[in-house]
Amino acid sequence: MAVIIDGKKISQEIKDEVKAKAEQLKAAGIEPCLAVILVGEDPASRVYVRNKKRACEYCGIKSLSYELPESTTEEELLALVDKLNNDKSCNGILVQLPLPKHINEEKVLLKIKPEKDVDGFHPYNVGLLSIGSADLKACTPAGCIELIKRSGIDICGKNCVVVGRSNIVGKPVGMLLLAENGTVTTCHSKTKNMAEICANADILVVAIGKEKFIKADMIKEGAVIIDVGINRMEDGKLCGDVDFDEAVTKAGYITPVPGGVGPMTIAMLMNNCITACEKQNA
Ligand code: GUN
Repeated sequence: MAVIIDGKKISQEIKDEVKAKAEQLKAAGIEPCLAVILVGEDPASRVYVRNKKRACEYCGIKSLSYELPESTTEEELLALVDKLNNDKSCNGILVQLPLPKHINEEKVLLKIKPEKDVDGFHPYNVGLLSIGSADLKACTPAGCIELIKRSGIDICGKNCVVVGRSNIVGKPVGMLLLAENGTVTTCHSKTKNMAEICANADILVVAIGKEKFIKADMIKEGAVIIDVGINRMEDGKLCGDVDFDEAVTKAGYITPVPGGVGPMTIAMLMNNCITACEKQNA
């Protein structure tokens, strides 16, 4: 049976480290501050934003909340981002995605000053990530790496397989594994013999958004399985992209859903806020 990687516990450790750093900054007269912008009424986004504000409160990071109506224009949103870009007391800017269809997401993300881009989505930070020198790394991918490292697993030289090639998870997690000297293969919807490639992975990271897609025959005995998927089943329960009940009997380590990668995203966001604040005040 696999060791179950406890994302709640590890994310709590990270939030406590962040809290200690926030206290140090405040002792030096600097108050870390994150601006969170939500446009529209998407219920999932509302929950995410509420959780981000709660985490700020826990860590001792001031949060500025902007909850804007669905009818907000692109110009209005760009103007708000610009105002926050120029506000020295605000260290991080997070625009919750998805944005309403009439707003060009790429244009908004490009507008955020790279040093305040705590999501790590700005092409400048994506570029730094690809050359291995980013300070602000995309939160979910960085969370995957922390889960692996804090479980005492060495990535160096391992066969790492990433399933999924999205800009927010698959591609950046591949870059981060490479930076840790993993041998990285990325699989996607057009990949041939995916099962065979996965079954050769020492570390398998799955982010495709397909319920229980990875079965036992796609897993190497003793492998490390990081499941980024969050899917809602017909009975209302959450499940990952990995068939947990099958995988747990074969893997060496596995993250559960919920309670694996999920809580890490916000912890890494908090960490990025502190990094941004420290850099801006260096
Ligand atoms: N929507 C879903 N995940 C994320 C995230 O990590 N950051 C932002 N800004 N929006 C999201």
